[in-house]
Formats: sequence, C-alpha cells, structure tokens
Amino acid sequence: MAARLFEDKDHAAVYQKYRFSLQENLQGVILAYLEKKVNCFQLGVDVGCGSGQNTLLLAKYFEKVVGTDVSEAQIEEAKRATHPLNVSYLFAVLSYSACPAEKLPFEDHSVDLITAFSAVHWFDVSSFIKEMDRILKPSGCFILCSNTLDLQLHYRGQSEKLTEIFKEIQTQLIPYTDEKVKLVLYDYKAIFDALPFQDKERITDIVDKVSMSVSEFLGYIQSFSMYRTFLKAQPEAAKSLIQNTEQRILETMGVSSHETKLEVWTRQICILGSRSR
Ligand SMILES: C[S@@+](CC[C@H](N)C(=O)[O-])C[C@H]1O[C@@H](n2cnc3c(N)ncnc32)[C@H](O)[C@@H]1O
Repeated sequence: MAARLFEDKDHAAVYQKYRFSLQENLQGVILAYLEKKVNCFQLGVDVGCGSGQNTLLLAKYFEKVVGTDVSEAQIEEAKRATHPLNVSYLFAVLSYSACPAEKLPFEDHSVDLITAFSAVHWFDVSSFIKEMDRILKPSGCFILCSNTLDLQLHYRGQSEKLTEIFKEIQTQLIPYTDEKVKLVLYDYKAIFDALPFQDKERITDIVDKVSMSVSEFLGYIQSFSMYRTFLKAQPEAAKSLIQNTEQRILETMGVSSHETKLEVWTRQICILGSRSR
C-alpha cells in the first residue's frame, strides 16, 4: 500500500519552506551520472516531486520535465514556486501532475529518466518498479535518492552535545515513525534488491554540509513525517518539543538569536541505474 502522508496544506507549506534542495555532493553524483549514462534528454519525470525544489534540477537538462505527486497540496505548492516569473532561466517545458507513482500518465517506453528524491520509500515499491519498467525507454535511467536520518549538528566546540539533542528528538519521535521509513533506515537495500535491472548501483556514503539557522533547523524537523504524525496526535506536546529543543540548542550554542547559523551534516543514499537488462 502507498502511504498517504504529506497531504495537508500546512505540511506542504512547511515542506516548501524548510526542506533543502539537493546539495553539492549529491548533485555532483547525479550530474556525473547524467553526463555518463543518459544519452537522450527529451523527457525527465520526477515522481513524488513534493513542492518541486529538486524537479528544477532536471529542468535545466531536459526538453520536457514533468513533476508528479499524489498530493494535490504539494502540486499546488510546486506550481506556485515555479511560476514563470520565478524560474525564467529554465529551458525545459516544465509541468506538474497530481497522480500516484503506481499509475503514471506516460506512454510505454517514452521516458528518458525517472527520479524520486526522498520519495520512493513512500510508494508501493513493487507497483512503482513495474511502472518504471513500463514507461522507461529501453535504455532509460533512474535515480532514487534520499536523505537519511543520520544527521550531525556542528557549531564550534559543541557538535557532540548538539548532535545528542537531535538524537533525543529522534528517539521521542520513534513511536510516530511510519513503517516505510525503515526502508530509509536500512539505506534502501530492500528497494535496491527489488529492482529487476542488472545495471544498478547503490551509494550510501554521500555527506553534504548544509548551513542553517537554528529556526530553519527547527522548521526542517517540523517537516518530518513523524513530527507531523506526532503533531496530529498530541498538538501541545509536539509544539513544546520544538520550543524546548530551541531553548536547549541555543543554550548549548551559547547564543540568544535563533537566526544564528549552525552546520548540519546529512548523509544521503542514492540508487542509480538503467533499464537495460
Ligand atoms: C518526503 S517528500 C519528498 C518531496 C520531494 N521529492 C523532495 O525532494 O523534496 C515525499 C513526497 O512523496 C509523495 N508521495 C507519497 N506517496 C506517493 C505516491 N504513492 N505517489 C506519488 N507521490 C507520493 C508525497 O506526497 C510527498 O510529496
């Protein structure tokens, strides 16, 4: 069964505001792969595109790019964010479509590249793989990536203590963690093994360093699916978790402004491959 999270408007808005787009090292891996393996740049499809930050990466390379997502609210955010006035540098025809990953509106063997960023674990994986097999061109490629929950927080000499605070939040959120997130916790191994293609590789040690203010980091936590589940179940407790965490982070950093920047080190997973058997 596909999971139905990310559907409400608040979550979509928090997502658009606080999720960071693909960072330098992961982008490097993806762009090197596009250069090496993708031989036709007609149609790229970003499945589970959310509010579309990463769909834009494809739009720089392909003639036509379609971002798809099961959530109407996310698709609305994506359309708003990629209004022509905001993204006039794009060459591609960029469009968005609200539809499930398991039933994509493309002809058989018509797509050059399928991407899914922090999304494939939410899909019904075996139906999605069948759909990939159906719509990819014979040598069409796929890139399936995700941030992991392996995060380290760095600020002057306080990195260990700050990272410990994050780990404590993670522990508090465990009861609200969807089963699907286990696919991420095991570095997408089950998804990799399920792909019926010979040409595939899985990279699990890409680390990017993202500079964020304390308030942006707290916003990032609030975009986690498990935090949204906690918020729905216990709104007051969820809000005080964020307030207490802000307090503890600021005290540990020895600063008073939540605009103070810290560095977040995030490990990512990336599966790359092509349909050729
Ligand atoms: C964690 S978000 C990632 C969004 C975006 N790719 C990014 O990198 O920011 C996961 C997205 O997958 C979408 N999603 C979940 N299940 C889906 C399904 N079965 N079909 C299509 N999209 C789905 C959600 O609505 C959500 O927007």
